[in-house]
Amino acid sequence: MIYLDHAATSFPKPREVLSEMTRCMRFYGGNPGRGSHSLSLAAAEKVYACRRAVAELVGSRHPERLAFTLNATSAINTVVKGLLRTGDHVLISDMEHNAVLRPVARLAREGRITYTVFPTMLLEEGRSPARITARLARLVRPNTRMLICAHASNVCSASLPLEVLGEFCRKRGILFVVDAAQSLGHLPIDVEEMKIDALCAPGHKGLLGPQGSGFFLLGEGVEAETLIEGGSGYHSLEEEMPAEMPERYEAGTLPTPAIAGLLAGIGEVRRMGIDAIHAHECRLIAHLARRLSYLPEVTLYAPQYQGSVLSFGIAGRSAEEVGLALNRMGFCVRAGFHCSALGHRTLGTDATGTVRVSVGYCTTEAQIDALADAAQRLCRRT
Ligand code: ALA
Repeated sequence: MIYLDHAATSFPKPREVLSEMTRCMRFYGGNPGRGSHSLSLAAAEKVYACRRAVAELVGSRHPERLAFTLNATSAINTVVKGLLRTGDHVLISDMEHNAVLRPVARLAREGRITYTVFPTMLLEEGRSPARITARLARLVRPNTRMLICAHASNVCSASLPLEVLGEFCRKRGILFVVDAAQSLGHLPIDVEEMKIDALCAPGHKGLLGPQGSGFFLLGEGVEAETLIEGGSGYHSLEEEMPAEMPERYEAGTLPTPAIAGLLAGIGEVRRMGIDAIHAHECRLIAHLARRLSYLPEVTLYAPQYQGSVLSFGIAGRSAEEVGLALNRMGFCVRAGFHCSALGHRTLGTDATGTVRVSVGYCTTEAQIDALADAAQRLCRRT
C-alpha cells in the first residue's frame, strides 16, 4: 500500500520510535511520578525529557507548563472548557476541525458562551494578514475572551499567519489558542514570538510519535480549570488537584511508552529539520496539483499548495467512491468530510466532500506519480 494519509496520522513511524517504545516497555517502564523506586524515576525522567524536547521545539522556556494528553482533541477540550467562563465570547476560524467547533458549540448551546466564526478569506482575491485582521477587528466584542484557530487546515494546504493573529490578540487582551494538529513538525512554531497563550497538538502526526500522545502548553499566567481529576502522584492526602503544572492536568497514569516514542519522533524531526520537511512536502503537493490539473474531470480544492494536504474531486464520482477505488488500487487516502464541517462549508464542498491526499516526511515523488496515474485511470473510467 502507498500511504498518503499523514494528516490523519504519520505512517510508518521511524524505526527509532519503535525501538524506543520497545526499550521503554522492556527496561524502564515504571509508572512515572508514582513512587521513588528506580523504574518509576527512570520513566519520570523520560517523560520530563520529552516535555523539554517539545518545549524547546516550540520556543518555550517552561517545559513544566506542558501537560500530556491522549491527543489534540483532549488538549483542546481541556483548554477551551478550562479557560472559558460564563458570558465569554469566542472567535473561531471558518476552517476549524470539529475538535474546536464541537466543544465551543456545546458551551454555546448550553448558554454559557457565544461564538463567532471569522473568515480566513481563503477563496478571496487579495487575501493578506492585514485584511484578515481588519475583518477580525469588526467581530471583536467587549466580552471577547478567546480566539482559537487551526494553524493549518486538515482539508487543504491553507494556513493562518499566527504572528499577526497573536499580536492582534495580545493588544486586545484576548487569549490566543492554537490548534497545531496539522502544522507541528511541518511548520515552525514559536509560542513566544507568536504570542500563543495555549498551544494544543497531537504527538502522532507531524512529530512522528505514536497514537495516544498529545499535549497542551499554557503560557505564563494562563490558568485553566481541570477537566479530569484523580491521582497525580502529588499532594496525595488532599482532595483537590495540585495547583502546580503539569501535575494539575495529568490525572491518572501517563502513557509512558507513547511519550518515549514521541521523544524519539521529535529527535527524528529535528534531525531532518522542519524547514526541509516542509519544503519536501510542498514540492510533492505542488507536483501532484500540477499532474491533476491536466485532467479535465478533476477539480482541485486547494487555494494554495504551500503545505502537505491536497483535496480534489472527480466529476461524476462521489469522494467515497474515489477513495474506495484508490484503496483497491493500493493507495491510502482519506475521502469524505475529514471531521471539518466548517472547512467544507468554506471551500464549498459540504455537499460532496473531497478526496484528500496528505504527504509526509517519507513520501516520495514516485508515490505521488503513481497516485496521479491512478487518478487518470479512474477519470478515463467515468
Ligand atoms: N483529524 C485527522 C484528519 O484530518 C484525524 O484526518
